[in-house]
Amino acid sequence: MPFGSSDEQAQLNGDAQWDDFDPARYVEKNYSEVLSVDEEIMSIVRAHFSDHFRERSDLPVHGIDVGAGANLYPAFLMLPWCDRITLLDRSKSNRAYLRGQIDEHDGSWEKFWQKLCQDDAYAAIPDGPWPRLREVAQVKEGDILRPVDLPDRWQTGTMFFVAESISTDTEDFHRAVQHFLEALTPGAPFAAAFMEHSAGYQVGDLWFPASNVSRTEIEASIRRFTDSVQIHEIGEQGEVRTGYDYIILGCGFR
Ligand SMILES: C[S@@+](CC[C@H](N)C(=O)[O-])C[C@H]1O[C@@H](n2cnc3c(N)ncnc32)[C@H](O)[C@@H]1O
Repeated sequence: MPFGSSDEQAQLNGDAQWDDFDPARYVEKNYSEVLSVDEEIMSIVRAHFSDHFRERSDLPVHGIDVGAGANLYPAFLMLPWCDRITLLDRSKSNRAYLRGQIDEHDGSWEKFWQKLCQDDAYAAIPDGPWPRLREVAQVKEGDILRPVDLPDRWQTGTMFFVAESISTDTEDFHRAVQHFLEALTPGAPFAAAFMEHSAGYQVGDLWFPASNVSRTEIEASIRRFTDSVQIHEIGEQGEVRTGYDYIILGCGFR
């Protein structure tokens, strides 16, 4: 995900121009190639989900990717185990991007899928991810800063670069973590990725806000809802993208 230096005004979630978020520019900058940090994240989360679901008989389950935006690999990660995947996002342009990719995808996403196919559960999906994704994905408008409707709870979930990347208000960060975890059923395996000490980020001509949270704050925020979480520090400080320290990945069970 993108970052740049900026001395622009601080923004709350409602101030940013989410409907004008440019998914093509975002993907070009972040996901046109598989960066080593994303490869590492995919490998850890794939093992986390695979180790859990491989032994289960109560499949398929429902999954949710919160703030899906212009990134398909979290949905790919849940694909072998789900007969429904909700792709929730506040942004109209990002929802349109997701619908467009599900109908007719860009080739760059194939490279992400190929990485996942090192695990048999992914490689075994007939004809690759696209027919299955068309069947199970539901793109929905939603605001993770509001409580999620509990009857709609999900049995697995991902939230990548969202809680800390939607507002300068640290309370919003904690709120997003809370609502993500509360949307999951007890015991549900989840993965959530964060930029540590993010300064905000530029997409095309627009600046988007971020909360400056540390690894300790991220871990404590998750631990309000579960003790069953492992925290991973991904990448080198300042590697590839500027404007943050490390990527923090939390993999656990609700
Ligand atoms: C930095 S992007 C991350 C996108 C993607 N998950 C990724 O891994 O690259 C933040 C995403 O959060 C979405 N978003 C912003 N505010 C939101 C809110 N209140 N509720 C849900 N999604 C929101 C944005 O539209 C955008 O898609």
